[in-house]
Amino acid sequence: MRNIFVWAICCVAGACCMILPSCSKSDSARKVTVGFSQIGAESDWRSANTLSIKNEAKTRGVDLRFADAQQKQENQIKALRNFIDQKVDIIAFSPVVETGWQGVLEEIRASGIPVILTDRGVDVTDKSLFVTLISPDVIEEGRKAARWFVENTTGDLKVFELRGTPGSSPAIDRKQGFAEVITNHPRIKIIKSQDGNFERGKGKDVMEAFLKTPEGREFNALYAHNDDMALGAIQAMKEAGLKPGKDIKIVSIDAVKAAFHALIDGELNCTVECSPLLGPQLFDTVETVLAAKTLRRHGAKHKLIKPVVLDALKEDIFIKRIMVNEGVFDQSDARKLIDTRKY
Ligand code: AHR
Repeated sequence: MRNIFVWAICCVAGACCMILPSCSKSDSARKVTVGFSQIGAESDWRSANTLSIKNEAKTRGVDLRFADAQQKQENQIKALRNFIDQKVDIIAFSPVVETGWQGVLEEIRASGIPVILTDRGVDVTDKSLFVTLISPDVIEEGRKAARWFVENTTGDLKVFELRGTPGSSPAIDRKQGFAEVITNHPRIKIIKSQDGNFERGKGKDVMEAFLKTPEGREFNALYAHNDDMALGAIQAMKEAGLKPGKDIKIVSIDAVKAAFHALIDGELNCTVECSPLLGPQLFDTVETVLAAKTLRRHGAKHKLIKPVVLDALKEDIFIKRIMVNEGVFDQSDARKLIDTRKY
């Protein structure tokens, strides 16, 4: 009995050594390979997210195959198929839009490679096509933005909404969260809503055009689905002689450093945090998924690892969503906090 127990321990330790780069002598011979398909570089948030993932892979000695999709779903699908051909250990990606993934996810499943989603969700009926989604509560971010308007303004608010990429989960969820809250506050109304693709340049162009419309002459609040679009819109407002932050109350999402500067300058009123620093959680999850896979393989073959050990590592106990905690910042705390910001 004692021998069986010792064998089981060795087996668990062996499995861990196969996946944790720090404990194997054959590190250089067999690195963990992760294929990551990134959306692009549309915002400061995205650049910080890419850096977090690349840095963490380097720290852990992971062979990261990184592909930039330049905001195109077809490029992401191509990259995912490429990762299957490369036989990577894990595929991770941040989906540019919610729909259209079922087919390629089924191809990945047939290849036996586990999938981890980061930052954005997919709309598929079969949730077992991916192991987990590492992301904040994005609907709640929309609610937080609306609550700032509710708690910090009086009188009628005519809101212009700058939406993120059409069909993307944050554009859908941030709209939904905001709408849920303002529905109980009839003084706050969205008078116009337009796409700005999460880009600073687009935010500026859209605001320039909007200011020339009848609604553009009567709005007094801006809700932007990310900081970059708000910053572009602020620029357009200043060029048109408006005082953003005063004439127009502005709330956006992400809490990037540039937004803190705008808060300090009095041109932005509030930014809701959405952390892009997902690298550590991504690679913790990669290690856990690979450990579970290895242990299951050994267990099935030898039937010697105690059932309790295997049960605890079954894939289906992975929560389908790993949440990230986030704050809300306005002009009252920006100066004090700016030096603590990591992105
Ligand atoms: O999916 C996260 C969103 O995508 C961020 O809010 C935005 O800045 C980014 O481009």
